[in-house]
Amino acid sequence: MNPKVLISAEEIDAKLAEMGKAITEEYDGKNLLLVGILKGAFIVMADLARHIHTSVEFDFMAVSSYGGQTKTSGVVRILKDLDTQIEGRHVLIVEDIIDSGLTLHYLMKNLRVRNPASLELAALLVKEGVERPPLDIKFVGFNIDPDFVIGYGLDYEELYRNLPFVGVVDESEL
Ligand code: IMP
Ligand code: MG
Repeated sequence: MNPKVLISAEEIDAKLAEMGKAITEEYDGKNLLLVGILKGAFIVMADLARHIHTSVEFDFMAVSSYGGQTKTSGVVRILKDLDTQIEGRHVLIVEDIIDSGLTLHYLMKNLRVRNPASLELAALLVKEGVERPPLDIKFVGFNIDPDFVIGYGLDYEELYRNLPFVGVVDESEL
């Protein structure tokens, strides 16, 4: 497989610096809890966090969505829940990519009933022109075409997460 660079490592880092600055300003003095959605978000979480200059705690959730290999079914199972209670906390969910939005729609509903002080979303990539349930994404990195992408945490069958850039592959090659 021969991925084509869609977003370079340099472009990603510049964007994360911008997002980190906006997040720092928004949460300054608020003791932020960053929640990364495993596995895909582990790289963006690590790199984004280093551009946030206020007090931050970390937690992770792991979910699996049943369904095909390159599409989400919307049925979500929590494989690992938060370690922390989030009642009264300022929670920012960090995602690698939002495609159908079904995973996050489910997660936001699930977390909202735990009564956080605030619950917002940051996503490095958002696929454009995809029909999805209403999701207010406060911090967006890049809007991209709705093609299947890999790298920078994103996998195809668990491979390619370690590519330092976001790449596109011809779906016929998958
Ligand atoms: P959604 O529920 O359809 O928004 O996407 C759920 C998850 O599917 C994302 O968090 C990613 O882990 C994965 N995903 C969606 N689109 C892609 C892609 O283009 N490449 C790799 N993984 C993807
Ligand atoms: Mg993911």
